[in-house]
Amino acid sequence: MAQKVQFVETVLRDANQSLIATRLPFEKFEPMLETIDKAGFYAAECWGGATFDVCLRYLNEDPWERLRKIRAKMPNTKLQMLLRGQNVLGYSHYPDDFVKLFVAKAVENGIDVIRIFDALNDVNNLKVAMEATVKAGAIASGTISYTTSPVHTHANYVKMVKELKEMGASTICIKDMAGIMGPQEAYDMVSAIKDAVDLPIDLHTHSTTGLAFMTYLKAVEAGVDIIDTAISPFSGGTSQPATETLAYALRQLGYQVDLNDDCLNAMADYFKGVRDEFVADGTLMAKSMATDTQCLTYQVPGGMLSNLLSQLKQMNALDRFDEALAETPKVRKDMGYPPLVTPTSQMVGVQAVRNVLDGERYKTVSKEIKAYCRGEYGTTPAPIDADIQAKILGDDKVLEGRYADTLAPVVEDTRAKLGDLAKSDEDVLSYIAFPNLAEKYLENRKAKEENACTYSIVEA
Ligand code: CO
Repeated sequence: MAQKVQFVETVLRDANQSLIATRLPFEKFEPMLETIDKAGFYAAECWGGATFDVCLRYLNEDPWERLRKIRAKMPNTKLQMLLRGQNVLGYSHYPDDFVKLFVAKAVENGIDVIRIFDALNDVNNLKVAMEATVKAGAIASGTISYTTSPVHTHANYVKMVKELKEMGASTICIKDMAGIMGPQEAYDMVSAIKDAVDLPIDLHTHSTTGLAFMTYLKAVEAGVDIIDTAISPFSGGTSQPATETLAYALRQLGYQVDLNDDCLNAMADYFKGVRDEFVADGTLMAKSMATDTQCLTYQVPGGMLSNLLSQLKQMNALDRFDEALAETPKVRKDMGYPPLVTPTSQMVGVQAVRNVLDGERYKTVSKEIKAYCRGEYGTTPAPIDADIQAKILGDDKVLEGRYADTLAPVVEDTRAKLGDLAKSDEDVLSYIAFPNLAEKYLENRKAKEENACTYSIVEA
């Protein structure tokens, strides 16, 4: 029997986030939800990551309501979200009571699969979210943030995968956020993990460097079960490779692909129009769609290169770009080789720029790097350089154990503080995640309701 390959469609989340900064409002994709639902995807990634933040910050949407509306139109397909472990959808660790309630409510509102990752691959940062996911009856997808370094060996990845299985992972995801995984590496890594555990494996990569099609093909040869792709108008560049192209090529090679081509064609036709609107208003830029091989040369993700450039530009120091670029891998090494993903990529990039512009390494450090050196982000893949750590910390002590254990519960107090501004646990969670944004949203909603109320009285 032919080997079956399943697909996760990312147009609603990762493709949306990678190409147009997550600016797709609900009503722009609503007409396609029933079609996506009938296309035969393993799952539709549609929530989490930056969607929550952007819904509140730019789109004036309640992210929970968005999820419920997607669920209502997609009864047949698993809905997937991306969760940053103990960081949930933010940039630093939250107390456990928030993580648990957030996961429970995400599942209650319609999520089926939670892909849970940690920027340092510290499984202690995944545990609470993984257990809450299992408890809520959803699929916990234990995730490896893929990177390369002397300590990121297959043996270490396999060890992590076994720990994820112990914690209740139903599937394993290899998340190559920078698109730097080559075909041979994909073949070897998928083979190594397949040998170690009997769980379905999902490979997630980006087209950034142009490797993705080849990488998926070799991963499939090694037996990968699920791949992440985006419908063609939202594919390529910093997004995923195209769904239709992979379906075509894999079928030609004799693999079983249970996708409905009529649905894929309808999606492609529709999203072409949406893409063109974002091109016209300048949101979708040519450089996001292009192939960029710089990250293969510098081992720095594409997003970090543009951040370095804009930082230096702000400081009128564009002529120091080469130095800052050369400093980046050195800072990463000093910090114990963290994978470069939110929030570590920002922290390392900012520090590299400071080291170069100050003329002395670690003369000034951000509060995030200081917290990192204290252990607030978890255990680093390799030890932090001891001398540098001592210089940064001064008299400060390194934390023993898990940082979240030092955080007081936050849900009850917030609920009390918000009073009748919050109508539900979901409102309380939005507020804890993004206090300023959520407060504005909740107050607007309240004002609207009061106006609506006055209006109806006048009418009566
Ligand atoms: Co991604």
